[in-house]
Amino acid sequence: MPDTATQSQARERASRHGQSHLFRYWEELNPAEKDTLAEQVLSVDFEQLAALHRDLVVSHGSGPAADEGPITPLRAKPWDGFPIAERAAYANQGMRALREGKVAAFLVAGGQGTRLGHNGPKGIFDIGLPSRKSLFQLQAERILRLSRQAGKTIPWYIMTSEDNHAETTGFFKDRRFFGLSERDVFFFKQGEMAVVDDAGKVLLASKGRLSMGPNGNGGCFLALAKSGALDDMKRRGVEHVFFYGVDNALVRVCDPHFVGFALAEGHPAASKAVIKAQPEEKVGVLCLRGGKPSVLEYSEMTEEMIYAKGDDGRYRYDSANIATHMFTHAFLEKHAAAALPFHVAHKKIAHVDASGALANPDKPNAWKFELFMFDLFPLAGAMAGLLVSREEEFAPVKNKDGVDSPASARALLLDLHRKWAIAAGIGEDELRGKLVEISPLASYGGEGINTALIRSQLGNPIIHVS
Ligand code: UD1
Repeated sequence: MPDTATQSQARERASRHGQSHLFRYWEELNPAEKDTLAEQVLSVDFEQLAALHRDLVVSHGSGPAADEGPITPLRAKPWDGFPIAERAAYANQGMRALREGKVAAFLVAGGQGTRLGHNGPKGIFDIGLPSRKSLFQLQAERILRLSRQAGKTIPWYIMTSEDNHAETTGFFKDRRFFGLSERDVFFFKQGEMAVVDDAGKVLLASKGRLSMGPNGNGGCFLALAKSGALDDMKRRGVEHVFFYGVDNALVRVCDPHFVGFALAEGHPAASKAVIKAQPEEKVGVLCLRGGKPSVLEYSEMTEEMIYAKGDDGRYRYDSANIATHMFTHAFLEKHAAAALPFHVAHKKIAHVDASGALANPDKPNAWKFELFMFDLFPLAGAMAGLLVSREEEFAPVKNKDGVDSPASARALLLDLHRKWAIAAGIGEDELRGKLVEISPLASYGGEGINTALIRSQLGNPIIHVS
C-alpha cells in the first residue's frame, strides 16, 4: 500500500526547497517506486545541500576555510634513518600490541573507482598477478599471516558504500573470507550525499531515484560509530586502529613497524608517507595548518605550493599521503561525530534530463560534496609521520593504464618479491627473465623466504611461492 502521507510530505518538502523537479516523472512510477522516491527525498538534508552549493559552488570556495592559519610542511621521519636497534624496538612494540589483541585493521572501501573505469568494488580488482589474486585477497592474506605470527587474530573492519556493499560482502562469502574467520570481518556502509547540478538542483539517476554518491572517505568516522564497529572494537580490547585505503597493492596492513612507531610517538594519530614521485603526482601531502597536523590534498594545492623548494633544495611539500594511518581508539571514540568540512568535486554524472532521456555528459555537469578523512587530523593536536620506502610500500591502483595503474602496481609488487628472493640468497642471474610472486601467506614483508621452493621452480618462467 502506498504511504500517501509520506508521499505528500516529500512533495511538499521538495517544493519548499526548490526541488520539485524530482517529481517530474511521478505519474510514470509504480506505487513501490513512488514510496522509494518519497523516502529518498525525505532522507536528504536540503538545507545542508543549499548551503554547500552556495559556499562551495556559487562562491567558488574550495574546501576548508582559510582561517585555519598558515600552511607549512609536516616532515615525516625516515624509517631508514633510525638505528637498527631502534627499528627492532619499534617492531617488537608493534608485535606485542598485535599479540595482545590491541590492534584492528580498518579499510575504507566505499569509493567508486571511476578513474579506473571499473564498475564495482575496487578491492575485487585483479591487477594481473600470476596468482590472479584480488586486492582484497592480498590484504586478507597479509592479515592472516600477521595474525599467525602474532598468535592473535586481527579483526578487520571494512567500510563499503550503498553502491558496492552487496558485491563486496558477496565476494568475501564466495571466497570463504580468504581463510579468515567470518566473525572477525565486520562490514558496514558509509553515508551518502545527493549530487547537484550547477543550479543546485538534485539530479535524478533514474525517473524514480535521486542521484546519490558516497559522502567521501571522511564519512568513515561517523559510520564507524553508527554501525557499532567502534563498540565492537572496544569489546575486543582494541586500542589502536590501523586505517588504510583499498587501492594500494603493497599496503602492509597492520605493519608492526608502523604500529610500534605510532605507539612510541604517543600521539592520537600517526601517518605513513613516501617521497612524492614528482611534484605533479596526484597525492595529498602532510602539512601543518596553523601548527595543527593536516593534509593538503592535490586538488587543493596551488602551483606555487606544488613547486616550492626549501633552502635544502627539496620540495617543501614532498611527504606524500599514502592513506595509511594509525589512530587510537580513544581518539576515534571522542571525535567520531565531529563536523568535518565538505569539499567539492566537479564530475561527469549520467542523469535523467528534462526530456526524460538518460543524458551521458561529455563534460562535468555535476557537483559532489565529499568529506576527507584527514580533516580529522587537526583534532589530534599533534601527529607523527613515518617516511617509508616507496618501492616497498606504495603501488596505487588508480588509473586504467599508465601511471598508478594495475600494470604499474603489478610491476612494483613483482619487483619487490624478486628483491626478497635475491635478499634470501637466490642469484640475480638465476631470476633473469622470470616473474617471482610470493604469497603473503608465505611472507609478510620478505621474511622466511623458502629458497629451496624457489630453486625448484627455476626452470619455469613464473616462480610462485605459496
Ligand atoms: C587519496 C587521498 C590522497 C592520497 C591518495 C593516496 C583522500 C581524500 N585523498 O586520494 O591524499 O595521497 O589517496 O593514494 O583520502 N573512499 C571511500 N568512500 C568514499 C571515497 C573514497 O571509502 O566516499 C575510499 C576509497 O575506496 C579508497 C580511499 O578512500 O580506499 C581513497 O580513495 P580516493 O577518494 O580515490 O582518493 P584519492 O583521490 O586517490
